[in-house]
Amino acid sequence: MGSPTTPLADTSPTTVLVTGGAGYIGSHAAKALRQAGHRVVIYDNLSAGHREAALGAPLIEGDIGDVDAVRRAIRESGATAVMHFAAWLAVADSVRDPAGYYRNNVTGTLGTLEAMAAEGCTRFVFSSTCAVYGEPVETPLRETHPTAPINAYGQTKLAIEQALPHFERAYGIRSIRLRYFNAAGADPDGELGEDHSPEVHVIPRAFEAVSTGTPIDIFGEDYPTPDGTCLRDYIHVTDLADAHVRALARLEQGGASASYNVGTEQPSSVRDVIAAVERVTGKPVLWRSAPRRPGDPAVLYASAERIRKELGWVPARPALETIVADAWRWHSTHPGGFAGAAR
Ligand SMILES: NC(=O)c1ccc[n+]([C@@H]2O[C@H](COP(=O)([O-])OP(=O)(O)OC[C@H]3O[C@@H](n4cnc5c(N)ncnc54)[C@H](O)[C@@H]3O)[C@@H](O)[C@H]2O)c1
Repeated sequence: MGSPTTPLADTSPTTVLVTGGAGYIGSHAAKALRQAGHRVVIYDNLSAGHREAALGAPLIEGDIGDVDAVRRAIRESGATAVMHFAAWLAVADSVRDPAGYYRNNVTGTLGTLEAMAAEGCTRFVFSSTCAVYGEPVETPLRETHPTAPINAYGQTKLAIEQALPHFERAYGIRSIRLRYFNAAGADPDGELGEDHSPEVHVIPRAFEAVSTGTPIDIFGEDYPTPDGTCLRDYIHVTDLADAHVRALARLEQGGASASYNVGTEQPSSVRDVIAAVERVTGKPVLWRSAPRRPGDPAVLYASAERIRKELGWVPARPALETIVADAWRWHSTHPGGFAGAAR
C-alpha cells in the first residue's frame, strides 16, 4: 500500500459537468479534475453543498431531476462527460424516508441520464457505494460479490447501476460505477473538507466529541471482530478523487463500462478510529456504548484488485493516521465548516 500510483495515460482536456460538486467528495474530485487539466462546471442545488467548495469553478444552481435545466447546463457548458455525485446518503434517513430517497437518488439521476441522452453526452462516472452488497457473504468484498442491499439508500444506488446498461444499449452512454467504501479525510492543501450537517460519519463525530466533550456513541461492542466493534475500510477523499480522474480517462480512451470498488483493503475498527483521533488531536475522545444499529454488518472492506489492475489506481494516503490527521487539520481550521473558517 502507498506505493506510487501508475501515471495516467495522457487524455485530452474534457469539460465535465460535476453534479453534487459543491459537496464533500464532489468538490475534491472537481479540484483533482482541474489539476489534471480538465474544465469543470459544477451543478448542485446546494441542499447539502457549499458555494465555497466550488473553489471558484463555475457553479450552476439546479436540481438533477430537472431535465431541461440539466440539458441546458450540458449544452451551454459543452460538457462531454458527467460525474454524478449528487444524492442523499444517510442510511438511517433512507429507511425512514424511502420516498424521498427514491425521488432524489433514482428519479433525479434518471432525469440527469435522460438529459445526457438528449444532448448526446455519453460518458458517466457514478458515485456508487459498498452498500450495494448488503450483508457480506465473504470479505474482502469483490465486485463479483452478490448485490443485495439491506437499506433503501443502497437499493437506490443499485437501481441506477442496473439501469445503466440499458442507457448504454439505447443511447450509447458508457459508465464507470465507483463503489466507495467509507470516504474520510480532507484535502491535504487544507482548501476543502467534510462539512455535513449533522455529521453522521465517525471521524468528524469523534472530532465533535473532542471539541465539545459530548461523548460519541459506539453502536455495538459485541460484534465478532477482534475488539468487538465494526470493521470498516476508510478511504482518503483525495484517493477517491484520483479514482474519478482515472475513471474519466478510461472512458475518454474508449474503455468499456465497469464497476470498481474503491477502498484501501485495510479494515479498521471503531476503536481504532477513536485511538487514531486521540493520537492526532492529543485529546481524549469520550464515548458511550449504544446498541447495534439495524443493518450494520460487522465487517466491510474492499478488494481493490480490479481498479488497481485496470485503472492503475493505488491509494497514496492509505494510513488511518494520515486520513485522520488531514481531516483534523481541516476541522481545526474550519471549526464551523466552510462558514466558520478560523482566521
Ligand atoms: N461519504 C461517503 O462515505 C460515501 C460513501 C459511498 C458513496 N457515497 C456517494 O458519494 C456521493 C457524494 O457523497 P458526499 O459525502 O460528497 O455527499 P454530500 O452531501 O457532501 O454531497 C452531495 C452533493 O449533492 C448535492 N445534491 C443532493 N441532491 C441534489 C439534487 N437533487 N440536485 C442537485 N444537487 C443535489 C448536495 O447539495 C451536495 O452538494 C453521493 O452520491 C453518495 O451517495 C458517499
